Amino acid sequence: MAIERTLSIIKPDATRRNLTGKINAKFEEAGLRIVAQKRIHLTKDQAGKFYEVHKERPFYDELCSFMASEPVVAQVLEGERAIAKNREVMGATNPANAADGTIRKEFALSVGENSVHGSDAPETAAQEISFFFAGLEIVG
Ligand code: CMP
Repeated sequence: MAIERTLSIIKPDATRRNLTGKINAKFEEAGLRIVAQKRIHLTKDQAGKFYEVHKERPFYDELCSFMASEPVVAQVLEGERAIAKNREVMGATNPANAADGTIRKEFALSVGENSVHGSDAPETAAQEISFFFAGLEIVG
């Protein structure tokens, strides 16, 4: 099985509530390794660029404002099937639909304030990782 890397973001609703460690424990318990991590406060423009794919969605402005409202923790997670595994650990986008034991079931407040983001495919993972990290910052 190939080792993959995926981009994870711990969102402002979670950093605000001091949940970074509890969320990281979920990743590590699932066998994902945190091979890069930084806490940053995005500008609204930077958030808008990151989520450009959602530009036409009605929630785009709210999403960008939220992501720029307080610090986030951007991370690279590495492991077997890391992209799919991270999505399993996160749970469904809407916490109302998330399975027991997932991050969003335990911690998310709403579909917007849903605690974590994770890349959805190999192409987006590569693109999203390079948005936040230089190669030298990723130590596997
Ligand atoms: P994320 O995985 O970061 O990718 C896009 C984000 O848009 C998603 O998580 C949600 O937080 C957000 N989102 C999706 N649907 C809605 C919605 N109906 N209202 C507000 N935010 C949403």
